[in-house]
Amino acid sequence: MIVLGIETSCDETGVAIYDSDRGLLADALYSQVDIHAEYGGVIPELASRDHIRKAMPLVRQVIAEAGIEDDAISGVAYTAGPGLIGALLVGASIGRSLAMGWGVPAIGVHHMEGHLLAPMLEESPPQFPFVALLVSGGHTQLVKVEGIGRYELLGESLDDAAGEAFDKVGKMLGLPYPGGPEVARLAAKGEADRFEFPRPMTNRPGLDFSFSGLKTFARNTIAEQSVDGELDPQTRADIARAFEEAVVSTLAIKCRRALEQTGLKSLIIAGGVSANMRLREVLEKNLAKVDGRLFYARPSLCTDNGAMIAYAGCQRLMAGLSEDLSIQAQPRWNLESLPAI
Ligand code: KG4
Ligand code: ZN
Repeated sequence: MIVLGIETSCDETGVAIYDSDRGLLADALYSQVDIHAEYGGVIPELASRDHIRKAMPLVRQVIAEAGIEDDAISGVAYTAGPGLIGALLVGASIGRSLAMGWGVPAIGVHHMEGHLLAPMLEESPPQFPFVALLVSGGHTQLVKVEGIGRYELLGESLDDAAGEAFDKVGKMLGLPYPGGPEVARLAAKGEADRFEFPRPMTNRPGLDFSFSGLKTFARNTIAEQSVDGELDPQTRADIARAFEEAVVSTLAIKCRRALEQTGLKSLIIAGGVSANMRLREVLEKNLAKVDGRLFYARPSLCTDNGAMIAYAGCQRLMAGLSEDLSIQAQPRWNLESLPAI
């Protein structure tokens, strides 16, 4: 089956073509970062309008890059939620309409299921069952995964998502939006032990997270260390390092706990923050100690992309699932409510 995938849930227009026999045939991404950077965060209406401008040209581009004709496409997948409602409706309208025009089935994909399955696009994909750490700009979740659509939420953030905390601390440090990759870059120049940030909610049982206190701790540290409202460059890097270390070790502690609790040995990490090199390094080390294995996707498939939506949609379409002719998007959508295949 050859599936066109469209991702428009937030600030990237991602379009890709996945072939169940040959793998990923084409994958194109247009990032709106420059549009939103000037405001320090995503402006939903600007996001929707830009998706409208970019989605169809990208559809044309990936069909050409895949070297196929329109009639080779046997299904269309689009992100139906969670995300910004206007942005989602752009992808849903285009995806549903193309499918109707081509006379093929369409499927609305859960954005986090897309992230969760992205490591499946890599050369040695994980085998079910496994534990998934989903860490994006909007979600921080630990999920027990027995198969596609067989998800049990083990824990999640009670306040900010990990990526959101990175973005907010990035802003406090005067870094451009999105802050995650910028904080990581700055942290690489920082000293490891100069500042000690807390590891929230690690000294009590459970698998939930909370990152908003860490954000406040960062704000206070920045205020204490600033001279005339300015941080010297080394202190700035040291704070970035301490913050990154605290997020990474908090995530790592909870991942170890989730593996112990479930008795599983495989951990996958997915979503934008799974591109973080320090997170990968620490988790690799921890898993080696317990004879476990870590799986993740290449960085371009960790952040939002069309390939993960094409892949997840393809699995569901091949199982015989599809949407009726209505155009639907769900800004909030529980991962556990998805049908198993
Ligand atoms: O999955 P994603 O592209 O979009 C959402 O579904 O939210 O995740 C974006 C998030 C942003 O918060 C971004 O700052 C963060 O992932 N991120 C990172 C890194 N790369 C992206 N955070 C830390 N380190 C990185 N290298
Ligand atoms: Zn995402």
